Amino acid sequence: MKRFFCLTGLVMGVLIQPISAAEPPVDFVNQIKPILADRCVECHHSESLFGELNLQSRELMMRKRKGGPVIMPKEPEKSLLYIVLTLPPKEPKAMPATGHRIAKSEMELIRRWIAEGATWPDGKDGAIMPRKMPSKKGV
Ligand code: HEC
Repeated sequence: MKRFFCLTGLVMGVLIQPISAAEPPVDFVNQIKPILADRCVECHHSESLFGELNLQSRELMMRKRKGGPVIMPKEPEKSLLYIVLTLPPKEPKAMPATGHRIAKSEMELIRRWIAEGATWPDGKDGAIMPRKMPSKKGV
């Protein structure tokens, strides 16, 4: 009897998996934050406000800027933060402004993240420090 249940569990697991594994929601901390930290924040932080945009936290990102909000939650196609990634590299607003384009898979993650509501936690989890910012320790 025990074995029967084990087997049923296994079969159910295999049947259910494709549905639940299809699209787990995008996780800001593990999937989006590393992209922003690596490729965006170096030019978009408190001491380098290109485009009047600070990407160090959700609150700072949403601060009033002349060009309007860069994210419209659930509407990636209207969100500048996604649009600029998809622009042809010659466009002045194509991002990242320097270096290679971000991977298509990363663009897609950002698109999905915005489509899912662009959740970005407060506090330490949501805070991004630019790597190249001068530090008092001289590191
Ligand atoms: C080398 C510096 C640099 C990097 C790296 C960079 N940006 Fe920018 N960003 C700029 C500059 C400069 C502007 C202003 C461009 C303009 O208004 O013509 C800008 C503007 C923007 C804007 C506002 C565009 C508008 O129309 O108002 C967004 C959104 C943006 N960047 C997103 C990003 C994202 C997302 C990344 C990472 C994938 C990124 N940037 C990486 C320099 C950079």
